[in-house]
Amino acid sequence: MHWKGHIAIVTGAASGIGTGIVECFAEAGAEVVIADINERLGAQVAADLRERYGKGMFVKADVSQADDCKRLIDETLATYGQIDTLVNNAGVNFVKPTLEMEEADWDRVVDVDLKGTFLCSRYALEAMVARRSGAIINIASVHTVATLPAAAPYAASKGGVGMMTASMAIEFAPFGIRINAVSPGLTDTQIWNDIQDAAEDAEHARQHWMDNIPLGRVQAPREVGKVVLFLASDQSSYVTGANIFTDGGMTIQLTNRERFASKSLEGVAPQS
Ligand SMILES: NC(=O)c1ccc[n+]([C@@H]2O[C@H](COP(=O)([O-])OP(=O)(O)OC[C@H]3O[C@@H](n4cnc5c(N)ncnc54)[C@H](O)[C@@H]3O)[C@@H](O)[C@H]2O)c1
Repeated sequence: MHWKGHIAIVTGAASGIGTGIVECFAEAGAEVVIADINERLGAQVAADLRERYGKGMFVKADVSQADDCKRLIDETLATYGQIDTLVNNAGVNFVKPTLEMEEADWDRVVDVDLKGTFLCSRYALEAMVARRSGAIINIASVHTVATLPAAAPYAASKGGVGMMTASMAIEFAPFGIRINAVSPGLTDTQIWNDIQDAAEDAEHARQHWMDNIPLGRVQAPREVGKVVLFLASDQSSYVTGANIFTDGGMTIQLTNRERFASKSLEGVAPQS
C-alpha cells in the first residue's frame, strides 16, 4: 500500500488514541489533519509530526458543532484537494449514576460521541461521493456490546455509532466508500489513569480489569492505530460495515461469561 498523497483526517487527535492513530498514518507516509477542540495540544502534535515525518496540519474544531465540522472538511479540501480517510475518534467518556444525571450531562456526551461522528461523516461524504472513493473509520467502544452501569449516555452513543456505521456502510457502498468501526477496550490514555485514580484501591481496580482481559494488559494507542490503518488501506478492500474489537479479548470474555456461569461445565469441559 502506497500512502504517499493519502489524506487522512483524525478527530480528537490532540491526545490519547487519536494521537496514536495520526502517528501511524504519518509514519506510513500519509498527510494527516489533526482536528481537535484543544488548540494547544493539537498544535503540539502537528508540530511534532512535522518534525518527525514532515506531515501534520492542525485544525481547531468542535465536532459537536455543524459549522466547525463543515469548516474542517472545507479547510482540508482547500489544502489537499481530497479526503481519503476520515477517522471519527473525538469522544468524551462519562460515568455517573442515572438518577444523578442532568440533561446537560447527556447532551455533552451524545453531542460529541454520536452527533459529532454523524456531522463529520456527513460533510466528508459529500467530497467522497464526488470522487467515488473513501473510507470512514468510527472509533466506537466495547460498550457497543458489553456495557457497565452508570454509563447510559456513553453506551447509547457508542451503540448508536455501531448502528450508524452499519447503516452508512450500506448506503455508501455503491459509491465505493467503505465505513467501519473499531471498538477499543482499555487503552493507555487519560481515561485509564482516571479509572485507577477514582478507585479506592488502585491496585485492586487494576487487577479487576486485568482479570477481564484475556491478553492481560491494557493496549497502547498505536495498537488501535494499526487496526485503523488496515481499515483505511487496500488490505481491507472487501471490508465494510464491520465493527472490529481491539480489546485483548475483553468483549468476548464478558459476553460469554454469563452463558458459561449459568450452566455447570462438570463432565463437559476437560478438567485441569
Ligand atoms: N481509552 C480507552 O480506554 C477507550 C476505550 C474505548 C473507546 N475509547 C474511545 O476512543 C476515543 C479516544 O479516547 P481517548 O481515550 O484517546 O481519550 P482522550 O481524552 O485522551 O482523547 C480525546 C480527544 O478528543 C478531544 N475532544 C473532546 N471533545 C471534543 C470535541 N467536541 N471536538 C473535538 N475534539 C474533542 C479531546 O480534546 C481529546 O484530545 C473516544 O471516542 C473514546 O470514547 C477509548
